[in-house]
Amino acid sequence: MRKKIIAGNWKMNYTLSQAEEFVTSIVKQINVDDIDVVLCPNFVSLDRVYDLICQTNVKLGAQNVHYEDKGAYTGETSIDMLISAGVEYCIVGHSERRQYFNETDEIVNKKVKKIIEKDLKAILCVGETLEQRNNNEMFKVVEDQLVKDLKDITKEQIKRNIIIAYEPIWAIGTGVTATSMQAQEMCKFIRSTIAKMYNENIAENIRIQYGGSVKASNAKELLSMEDIDGALVGGASLTNDFVAIVNYD
Ligand code: PGA
Repeated sequence: MRKKIIAGNWKMNYTLSQAEEFVTSIVKQINVDDIDVVLCPNFVSLDRVYDLICQTNVKLGAQNVHYEDKGAYTGETSIDMLISAGVEYCIVGHSERRQYFNETDEIVNKKVKKIIEKDLKAILCVGETLEQRNNNEMFKVVEDQLVKDLKDITKEQIKRNIIIAYEPIWAIGTGVTATSMQAQEMCKFIRSTIAKMYNENIAENIRIQYGGSVKASNAKELLSMEDIDGALVGGASLTNDFVAIVNYD
């Protein structure tokens, strides 16, 4: 039985005081232990958010990390810095980073390796553009991302450290959600790809989230699908809707 995981990706939203106010307002309402709940604020707010959640079941995630340990990388954040702030999860390969910051699969793979080396959990995002879906290339695109992003990752490592998030780019921040059938179809395909790359047992146990305009009104339907083990929530994670999503059942 796979434990569901719901993560809120705040993206570039909320100042320190706004983050503090928001987390204070929602944290008491998130009272679940049968689901993993992760908040991914901006770097600036990590430490403060950690203080507010460390006595609860809610975990801290980062939105990005650099793959080098330290040094002359102006503007970047190392994995040890994240760990020192209480981070346990890290989103990697989000389409916004691939699109606006030129993150290639090779870079994503280096980041995944660094996250594994330090025994954090990677939420690895994959997904196709609308054009790719219209050309019926979506399965090929997602398979290609999985193969490249997970290059050299062992069975033990994928079992312990990897969560996959299927995020069709055309559904992110657009209000257009993939239908539960479309989301299920791709999450199932991802699971079968993992079976091919690793084995059936690993595929059966890996957690696969759906992300892209998840909101309180569609969470239950999406999260009831057989191969969808959670949600990566953007816009709705900034509001009280997140509480409703976490309490979807
Ligand atoms: P959205 O973003 O829920 O605002 O569509 C999802 C994401 O980018 O993770």
